[in-house]
Amino acid sequence: MSAPLAGRRVLVTAGPTFEDLDPVRFLGNRSSGKMGFAIAAAAQRAGADVVLVAGPVHLPAPEGVQRIDVRSAAQMHDAVFAALPADVYIGAAAVADFTPAHIASSKIKKQPGDDGLQLRLVRTRDILADVALATPRPTLVVGFAAETDAVDEHARAKRIAKRVDLIAANRVGIDGSGFEGDDNTLHVHGADGHVQLGPAPKTEIADQLVALIAARLQQDPR
Ligand code: CTP
Repeated sequence: MSAPLAGRRVLVTAGPTFEDLDPVRFLGNRSSGKMGFAIAAAAQRAGADVVLVAGPVHLPAPEGVQRIDVRSAAQMHDAVFAALPADVYIGAAAVADFTPAHIASSKIKKQPGDDGLQLRLVRTRDILADVALATPRPTLVVGFAAETDAVDEHARAKRIAKRVDLIAANRVGIDGSGFEGDDNTLHVHGADGHVQLGPAPKTEIADQLVALIAARLQQDPR
């Protein structure tokens, strides 16, 4: 079996993050973690030493992969920076962009006459953008973008804004399609253009993405 990533350390994030509001409630999202877990498994099969930082999902860790479980975006940021340096960073997690300004220490109760609840949310730190500025920087930093429209335009803009090497974009429907299923189509944008992977099962897309990453590492060993 060929091992194009032998001797390389690959750090992958996967799944959603849960941002707690109080001891019983949280803000989450529809990410299943399947794409990120499939990428971690594919990188491991390609010979890499793989660390998988996973948000709350019920998926078994791929064999031979070091898994670190986290819940919130802040915890994911800490776990990623503790696991660096790496040759490749693949940010497949759907990290919350906003988190409650305060976590209530006891359950938030409705009061008689309340007709609504105001929540104050604050921005989370952008893990992907921070990794792209880390020293030493991974040779390849790969981000994901889930878009409902203008997929390629948003992907191009995101790649430049976050200073990453590749952005793998996929279309999501307002019903969550593209997030929860077993199949996917990825539009992978680099500085030199873009390629489409799939439609195909997420496991196959993961192998194709890992092959593309391995080819780039070989071209540009730095
Ligand atoms: N990401 C991250 N840390 C955050 C937010 C996002 O690392 N706090 C990463 C994700 O892991 C993914 C990419 O950034 O690789 C997604 O970018 P983002 O701008 O969050 O995408 P959207 O949520 O689709 O952005 P927007 O809401 O602007 O469409």
